[in-house]
Amino acid sequence: MTEDLRSAATRVAQHAYAPHSGYHVGAALRSVSGHTYVGCNVENASFSVGSCAERAAISTAVAAEGHAFRMAAIAVVALNARGEPLPVTPCGACRQALVEFGDDAEVGFNGPGGLWQTVCAGELLPYRFILPDT
Ligand code: THU
Repeated sequence: MTEDLRSAATRVAQHAYAPHSGYHVGAALRSVSGHTYVGCNVENASFSVGSCAERAAISTAVAAEGHAFRMAAIAVVALNARGEPLPVTPCGACRQALVEFGDDAEVGFNGPGGLWQTVCAGELLPYRFILPDT
């Protein structure tokens, strides 16, 4: 995981719209083709309408690269309202979205103990949903 992805995730977390949780999340991913895409969480007064940072970054990458998009690495950073780092691990729905585009992608985040760690996307979601041939 290159340091620039972590910095980009930290920067975009400062743009998060999170007035309801106070939990500002930024994600920065690198595509296999070498481009960087970012996303942040966007909350809503109707809570279920809100969206996660990781899937926002993936949507931007797909919009730019189309079907060819594959993910090499993604950094996820969470900040409180004072800009201080908080632990974050991608939510279940985001894990399913991550493996769709890069089973081997490197995923970096501040783990439950607050220490930066990187794992492979596939490790985050054993028994992920796979659509069988019909
Ligand atoms: N959130 C993310 O953006 N990514 C995750 O993987 C976990 C949760 C956001 C959603 C919501 O705006 C806030 O964090 C609190 O759940």
